[in-house]
Parts: sequence; C-alpha cells; structure tokens
Amino acid sequence: MDTQLKLDVVAFSIFFCCFPVLISACSHNSTLPTVTGDVADGLCYQVIQPLGYNCSEHIVQTEDNFLLGLQRVSSNKANSGGKRGPPVLLLHGLFMGGEAWFLNGINGSLGFLLADKGYDVWVGNIRGVQWSHGHVSLSESNKEFWNWSWTELAKFDLPAMLNYVNNITNSKVFVIGHSQGTLMSIVGFTNKESANKVEGAAFLCPIAYLHWVEVPIVRMAVLLHIDQVAVGTDIMRRLCRGDSDYCKNLVRSLTGENCCFDIHKVNDYLRYGPQPTSTRNLAHLAQMVRSGYITVYDYGLLGNIGKYRRFNAPSFNLTAIPTSIPMWFASGENDPLSDVIDVRDTLSELQRSPRETATLEVKNYGHLDFLFSWSAKKDVYDDLFLFLGNHTSSVGA
Ligand SMILES: *[C@@H]1O[C@H](CO)[C@@H](O)[C@H](O)[C@H]1NC(C)=O
Ligand SMILES: *[C@@H]1O[C@H](CO)[C@@H](O)[C@H](O)[C@H]1NC(C)=O
Ligand SMILES: *[C@@H]1O[C@H](CO)[C@@H](O)[C@H](O)[C@H]1NC(C)=O
Ligand SMILES: *[C@@H]1O[C@H](CO)[C@@H](O)[C@H](O)[C@H]1NC(C)=O
Ligand SMILES: *[C@@H]1O[C@H](CO)[C@@H](O)[C@H](O)[C@H]1NC(C)=O
Ligand SMILES: *[C@@H]1O[C@H](CO)[C@@H](O)[C@H](O)[C@H]1NC(C)=O
Ligand SMILES: *[C@@H]1O[C@H](CO)[C@@H](O)[C@H](O)[C@H]1NC(C)=O
Repeated sequence: MDTQLKLDVVAFSIFFCCFPVLISACSHNSTLPTVTGDVADGLCYQVIQPLGYNCSEHIVQTEDNFLLGLQRVSSNKANSGGKRGPPVLLLHGLFMGGEAWFLNGINGSLGFLLADKGYDVWVGNIRGVQWSHGHVSLSESNKEFWNWSWTELAKFDLPAMLNYVNNITNSKVFVIGHSQGTLMSIVGFTNKESANKVEGAAFLCPIAYLHWVEVPIVRMAVLLHIDQVAVGTDIMRRLCRGDSDYCKNLVRSLTGENCCFDIHKVNDYLRYGPQPTSTRNLAHLAQMVRSGYITVYDYGLLGNIGKYRRFNAPSFNLTAIPTSIPMWFASGENDPLSDVIDVRDTLSELQRSPRETATLEVKNYGHLDFLFSWSAKKDVYDDLFLFLGNHTSSVGA
C-alpha cells in the first residue's frame, strides 16, 4: 500500500494528556483522550482553524482496535447563545477524508455552513485516512492493517463514532453521508444499537445498489477483474500529479460531468487526497457492481462455505432499518456513481414511502458537485437544512 501516506501516529498520541480540552472530555469518562486542535498534522489545524472556526481533535477506538480521528467544529457566527445545537456527524466518501466538507470556502462548504447554523458539527474519518490515527497494534505498512472493506466501516467505524458523539453530547445524532459514507450508514443502521442513536440521516449521492453504475473505468476494471490487484491511491496520485489532463479525464470518468465544479481546481482539492483505501474495499465495491446486491464480502464458492456455511455471500437485510429514522436523499442527474435508478431501488428496499422520505434530484449535478459546486448551498444544502430543521427544534436561522 501507499507508504508515503504513513502518519506519525505516535507523535500525535503523545500530546494526549497535556491540554485542557482533555479534562472536559475526561469528565465524560470517555475511554480515549481528546487533544486540542493545535496538532500540526490534524485536520483542525490544517484546514478548519485557519478559516476562523473553533475545532478540537478527538480520537475514537473501534472494537477492532483502529484509532479514528473525529473533529468537533463550531462557529462564532452561530446565533445560539453559546448553546450547541444538535450533533451532526459527517461521513465522507471513498478516496476522501473529513476535509471533503471544508474545501469549498466558508460560504460554500457544508461543514462550515452547518456550524454557522449552530449545529454541533462532528467530522468523521474512517480507518486509513490521513486524519485518523492508525491502529492500536498494527502499522500501516502491515498487510493486515488494510484487511477490511466497507462492511467493517459499517460494523465498527460507524458505531464507534456514533457512540462517542452520543456519549459526549447526550443526544441523538444526525448523520450526513456522501457516497461511501451513505453506504456504511445504510448498512450500519441495520444494527439496532446504532439505529437507536440516530435522529435522522441525509444522504448525498447515495450508493447502495451499484448495479447500474455507468462509470466506464469502473466497469472496465470490474470486467477485467482489475480489482483483484492493487488499484489504489498510488495510481490515482501518480495520474493526478503534474499532467492535469489525465487527471481531469480520470475525475470526469469517475464522477460524471460535474456541472458546477471547476475542474481546473482539481489540484486544490487533491492537496489532501486522494485518501488511501484498501484494495479489499475496492474489490468489495466491485462485487456489488457485478452482483447488484448489497452482500458481505464474497470469498468465492469455497471461501463462502468456510466463512458463511453457504455458497453465496449473504445479503444485508435493509428492512431491519427502522422506518422511524427520517431520511433525506439527494442524487444528481449526471452522477454515474449514484444512479437515480439505484436510488429508487434503495428506497423500495428500505420500504419507505415517499411521505416518510425527502428526496432531491439535482439537475446537471455530478458526483463532486454535491461537495464542490459553486452553487451547492442554493442547489442542495438549503433543502438539507430544511430537512434538518423539520426534525429538530432547537436550531434557529
Ligand atoms: C468517571 O470516572 C471517575 C473516576 O474514575 C468516577 O469517579 C466518576 O464517577 C465517573 N463518572 C461517571 C459519570 O461515570
Ligand atoms: C471559540 O470558542 C471560544 C470559547 O469557547 C469562544 O470564546 C470563541 O469565540 C470561539 N471562536 C470561534 C471562532 O468560534
Ligand atoms: C462569504 O459571504 C459573506 C457575506 O455573504 C461575504 O462578506 C464574504 O466575503 C464571503 N466570503 C468568501 C470567502 O467568499
Ligand atoms: C483477512 O481477514 C480474513 C478474515 O476476515 C482472513 O481470512 C485473512 O487471512 C486475512 N488476511 C490478512 C492478510 O490478514
Ligand atoms: C459511553 O458511555 C458508557 C457509559 O457511560 C460507556 O460504557 C461506554 O464505553 C462509552 N462509549 C464510548 C464510545 O465512549
Ligand atoms: C428482513 O427482516 C425483516 C424484518 O426485520 C423480515 O421480516 C424479513 O423476512 C427479512 N428478510 C430476509 C430476506 O431475511
Ligand atoms: C419540511 O417540512 C415541510 C412542512 O411539513 C414539508 O413541506 C417539506 O417538504 C419538508 N422538507 C424537507 C426537506 O424535509
């Protein structure tokens, strides 16, 4: 895997008990300490604080011993009399990290806008991402460190983050996901304990059923079974360095014609990315494209018999998700990764009537427009704020 991206996790964790924020965190008896935002390689320090927002770094341990980074963001523009609004957990997509919610300027980034509205913004980072902190015992150069796919994100990362935010805020949590962040949420909510901590969920470019995925490069990789060798960050990074024509075409073929995302800015957005992911995760995503079902990892005939005592990989039962969780779905007309038909399939699988569920189909939008469009606030976020407002009482403006 990409050793360039290895982080000095140890140096980071030495900062643990030296800061006042820690004391308030400890008073909640959380198992892991908090550090301030002043850690030079943290998301707070690099991206969020320079734009004038308060931000603190938190570390959360998953049941399988990964150490995730969470950032808590607030704004002095929030007109909430010092009281924090309901917690919102942001879950980024594939090849991204928590920075995804903050790269579109203070007037166009969902993370900043939510903080301005008074929400208690928590930025999630999955295992392996630059802003997370490795593993209790495994190093990132260890093969075992990368032995996971989105199933583990749903099973371990989501509950760990939800529990932590729920514990500290003593409140149910709104979950907002983009792309892979929606997949890990939807599958994660089939767990009752997780679902019970969720106030509502908003999904940008939901991917659950990938059967109709049109992305040519993904299709080709799947047909050629390229997913069984290492296709990852390294390749993306190399393609995207220097010669930006390559990069532009790659971005286009992966994410569609993004109407309102300035492709010339792609290098700005790649300052922190693409974030690493595991080859196994890509393989699992590709299995979904091939089979059209949301199943656990498919080990092949013999492997499945060994692991699951059956020939095929079992599917997740999405009807286990309580319909009492309000949901909001936004998909783009031009987004090949989150095809409108897939979204409708997901809705019918979730057995949700349109009345229980808000949907927004955004004309001309591709996958990246939902984060980086110059008019995302007007086109997408204002409706999302209405949804959040419809299911909460304490946040004004
Ligand atoms: C937190 O831990 C301290 C010390 O271990 C203990 O005295 C206190 O009762 C705990 N508080 C809660 C709410 O569990
Ligand atoms: C950050 O928090 C401190 C104390 O909680 C507050 O005084 C300050 O105004 C906040 N700054 C911003 C930018 O929100
Ligand atoms: C954001 O919007 C405010 C007012 O709407 C404006 O004063 C400010 O210059 C804008 N900031 C940026 C970075 O665009
Ligand atoms: C990855 O995990 C599976 C079980 O989930 C195990 O069978 C396999 O040996 C592991 N591979 C590595 C390299 O750790
Ligand atoms: C949340 O708090 C409970 C009890 O107060 C504790 O048992 C649990 O470990 C905490 N979970 C996290 C993730 O901090
Ligand atoms: C899925 O779960 C629901 C209720 O939780 C149950 O009625 C249904 O039979 C399950 N479907 C499958 C295929 O297991
Ligand atoms: C918010 O609530 C209003 C009134 O009930 C409804 O008309 C509207 O569709 C809701 N919007 C969203 C995005 O949930």
